[in-house]
Amino acid sequence: MKRVFSGVKPTGHLTLGNYLGAMRQWAAEDQHRADALFCIVDLHALTIDHDPARVRRLSRQAATLLLASGLDPQVCTVFVQSHVDEHARLSYLLECVATDGEMRRMIQYREKAAREQRRGGSVRLSLLTYPVLMAADILAYGTDEVPVGDDQTQHVELTRDLAVRFNQRYGQAFVVPRATHPKVAARVMNLQDPRSKMGKSDDAGPGIVYVLDEPDVVRRKVMRAMTDSGRDVVYDRESRPGVANLLEILAACTGGNPEALGGVYESYGDLKRDTAEAVIEMLRPVQLRHKELCADPGYVEGVLRDGAERARGMARPTVDAAYRAIGLLPAAAESGAPVLKAAR
Ligand code: AMP
Ligand code: TRP
Repeated sequence: MKRVFSGVKPTGHLTLGNYLGAMRQWAAEDQHRADALFCIVDLHALTIDHDPARVRRLSRQAATLLLASGLDPQVCTVFVQSHVDEHARLSYLLECVATDGEMRRMIQYREKAAREQRRGGSVRLSLLTYPVLMAADILAYGTDEVPVGDDQTQHVELTRDLAVRFNQRYGQAFVVPRATHPKVAARVMNLQDPRSKMGKSDDAGPGIVYVLDEPDVVRRKVMRAMTDSGRDVVYDRESRPGVANLLEILAACTGGNPEALGGVYESYGDLKRDTAEAVIEMLRPVQLRHKELCADPGYVEGVLRDGAERARGMARPTVDAAYRAIGLLPAAAESGAPVLKAAR
């Protein structure tokens, strides 16, 4: 059976972009077709200015929402990254394989670092090394496939490069993974700025639909979405990004095709109305289940405890083997641990 791994950062409330680009496929498909792990990657939330209490709260909320969106702990493994030491352990080894130059080329690093510097803030070193930690998340589990939104493609490419390089230098330690993306809505755009991604943000962002937004709030945000000059409804990402985004969201919610849907609508108003209602209907059961789960925090905690234990059991042998392969002496207690046939 294939191994699938993916993660979500507790840096803000989860958005429609997270849901359509990632979580929905995890629940509907990935957990059933593979041996799948889904991780709340809390260490990654510390790469930017953070408030400890908020990270704790958002981590709990993300776990609850993953379960509400349909991840079944009987079928897949749901856990919190910091509960499994192997991620940080492996990250360090991979830092010894990655180069400074390739880290500085990461688009997300460049964008986020530039934004931080414009604000006069400082850039945490962990923001630079973050894709290495992500590679460790993936490689520790012998992952074959990484279901993510479009924005993570470059990070998964880096993960592949590091796996291949490590294997060539020190012996076959890692499976080389590949990214998979949803067919529609792999990049949901901000409703007020359809040329940039709908990302989690600190404010109530009028262009961001959150998974937990009330129906009225969803309706208001979608009805006020920025559309393009021109009046006919056509699907063209380049010249009509606002309309294309709405068509993609509608298509993703209803199982349709964005181009075909373009021909159905006479006006932007009708398109917005139907899109809003489709989003509301799609989110309704998730919100309901979220409310039920919030009433039972002990259950969620138990799921995370079991998940971490299972994850630890899977990651430990892979990471131990990589430690041996790269030349680190086993501690006496583990001297019986299997040693890789490493290249000399
Ligand atoms: P993050 O919020 O960065 O932790 O992302 C968690 C998952 O959601 C990743 O697989 C992202 O690629 C995906 N994702 C985040 N924002 C979007 C978006 N606007 N459109 C599609 N996928 C997204
Ligand atoms: N970097 C990813 C994001 O911002 C989150 C992430 C961390 C992840 N580790 C991962 C995704 C491993 C997939 C696999 O969305």
